[in-house]
Amino acid sequence: MTDIVCITDVRKTYDSGFEALKSITLTIREGEILALLGPNGAGKTTLISTICGIANMTAGTITVGGHDTIRDYRAARRLIGLVPQEINLEPFEKVINTVRFSRGLFGYPKDEAHIEKVLRQLSLWDKRNSQIRELSGGMKRRVLIAKALSHEPRVLFLDEPSAGVDVELRKDMWNVVAGLKADGVTIILTTHYIEEAEAIADRIAVIAQGEILLVEDKSALMNRMGQKQMIIELQTPVETVPPALSAYDLDRGPEGTLIYSYDTRGERTGITKLLSDLSAAGLVLRDVQTRQSSLEDIFVGLVQKETS
Ligand SMILES: Nc1ncnc2c1ncn2[C@@H]1O[C@H](COP(=O)(O)OP(=O)(O)O)[C@@H](O)[C@H]1O
Ligand SMILES: [Mg+2]
Repeated sequence: MTDIVCITDVRKTYDSGFEALKSITLTIREGEILALLGPNGAGKTTLISTICGIANMTAGTITVGGHDTIRDYRAARRLIGLVPQEINLEPFEKVINTVRFSRGLFGYPKDEAHIEKVLRQLSLWDKRNSQIRELSGGMKRRVLIAKALSHEPRVLFLDEPSAGVDVELRKDMWNVVAGLKADGVTIILTTHYIEEAEAIADRIAVIAQGEILLVEDKSALMNRMGQKQMIIELQTPVETVPPALSAYDLDRGPEGTLIYSYDTRGERTGITKLLSDLSAAGLVLRDVQTRQSSLEDIFVGLVQKETS
């Protein structure tokens, strides 16, 4: 798979002296949906802004489709569609003109067939002659996407596409994104909704305080989420894992408990056998609890470690 965006050692210090990006290195693969997941203030918008050339980076290099975003700005920028976090549309303009105008800005010749395709793809065709001010918030967000697609970008950045959008529309937006991916567009979306990253991303990058903490295939993360832990409290707390139970992957937990990790999707969890082997080894159960690690746990754990 080709890398379409390569970000190498990018740093960004704002004029205020605030270091918003601390050496970011990340590659984005052609055709994927990458979710950039992070709490407010993590640096998501700053990172997107540096890639799109809206903010200057203090150090580092970025290429898009092989074009350096500084030396070869126009060529790089042409490949990029940006859907900003804030809605910045002209209220009295008609939907279709808004989209046509955007295409013109990139120096592309008129192409009514393309404009129609984009408007249809976003279910805006029926609204093409409406003024922006007549549209709902969700529809306005669609217009932002249509604008970003007007010049046929290969990489689309969506900055918090479902911020302030209700659950129904959010699902709608996810379908739109899936449709764009099917058309071969590479998509990077920022979000602070774990659920959103979980629903549509192929890969997830977690960012906090200007640093990338993790980049992983979603399925691999989900596999980790499939892990469940059983916390075994014994009548007599143990100092070490009893040798009789060495066949199991047990850890000693707090206060002399034993922790058994197992895969919830495995054919057998091994719990029944473990419990009978426990009692055969002369250990008496007091209590058993289970807990599931979720993407939320992983995320919160990572971000807390970073800020503590
Ligand atoms: N123009 C600016 N000047 C100084 N600091 C800024 C500026 N823009 C953003 N920041 C700071 O940089 C950090 C990252 O902001 P941002 O990239 O918008 O985060 P996110 O999009 O992840 O919420 C925040 O602490 C924010 O206050
Ligand atoms: Mg932001």
